[in-house]
Amino acid sequence: MAKEIKTIGVMTSGGDAPGMNAAIRAVVRAALSSGLQVKGIRRGYAGLLEEDIIDMHTMSVTDIVQRGGTILFTSRCDEMRTPEGQKRAAEVCRKHGIDGVVVIGGDGSFRGAQKLSENGINTVGIPGTIDLDIACTEYTIGFDTACNTAMEAIDKVRDTSASHERCSIIEVMGRTAGHIALWCGISNGSEYVMVPERYDNDEEEIIEKILSKRRKGKKHHIVVNAEGIGRSHELAKKIEERTGIETRATVIGHIQRGGNPSCRDRVYASAMGALAVDILIEGKTNRVVAFKEGKFCDYDIDEALNMTKDIDELLYSMTRRLSR
Ligand code: ADP
Ligand code: F6P
Repeated sequence: MAKEIKTIGVMTSGGDAPGMNAAIRAVVRAALSSGLQVKGIRRGYAGLLEEDIIDMHTMSVTDIVQRGGTILFTSRCDEMRTPEGQKRAAEVCRKHGIDGVVVIGGDGSFRGAQKLSENGINTVGIPGTIDLDIACTEYTIGFDTACNTAMEAIDKVRDTSASHERCSIIEVMGRTAGHIALWCGISNGSEYVMVPERYDNDEEEIIEKILSKRRKGKKHHIVVNAEGIGRSHELAKKIEERTGIETRATVIGHIQRGGNPSCRDRVYASAMGALAVDILIEGKTNRVVAFKEGKFCDYDIDEALNMTKDIDELLYSMTRRLSR
């Protein structure tokens, strides 16, 4: 028989992402409107183990839908990776009367949710990461905002690159995935986009491309590189030496994780937060909310963690065609 849920906990875990606050707000308001009690677990699994738990009411989440970061704070916690830590985390939930937990984070955070579920606490994950590197879903909270932030930063670099007739290598985040790089490569009209999923250590093609564009009369060049490849300063030096074109590297960094969430991030995060609550009310556990083929849905966490994801080949091959 499905376990009846009376009190849910909500936490953010792993790297923060713009839109997490909108998801927290949705979880709290949807749960309250369904007659549940809500507890905020601060600082992810570290806060759970330290019992950093607060009561949440309607006014706890007022004025946050538009704010970046996470009002619940976030962390990475090694103790949660151990069986003892996982057992204790479930005991803390029971002590505080928490029957179900919504975990907003990435794959690592879902592994923690999986362990909590194995230890008797119902769980549901919400994909929150700017990296878009969660296989079961075509949308993750924060990706849209991060891409827009990076795109605007690259536009600015382009202004100065064009003025000096330079080549600019711009490195964007994404951990081991190239989704942000790919989207920025297209939206910024880059000469070349480097993604870890297609990188073969051969930089000759980039150098050739830059030289050929210069011969055609192009006065500046934008190369978008993914963090998963890195070495942007080294690459800039190599390009400058080989092409004779003054080259600079810019690593955009953590500004990509901050800022007010875009409309899409606010709306999708809200929908996912409300859906996560419904899933817990249905008595389900070990689930993760996703957006697939135009619809919100949910998957078993074990199944979701076994899925794999590649960058979009159609978009990637298009970057080649459009930058001729
Ligand atoms: P993300 O959730 O963004 O992928 P991390 O991989 O850093 O970020 O994971 C966030 C947290 O989730 C970790 O600090 C840890 O507390 C928990 N976690 C990660 N992997 C596991 C695991 N295998 N078992 C239990 N908890 C885990
Ligand atoms: O997962 C989000 C992310 O910003 C990645 O793109 C990046 O690799 C990582 O987190 C950086 O983590 P930290 O903030 O701990 O340096």
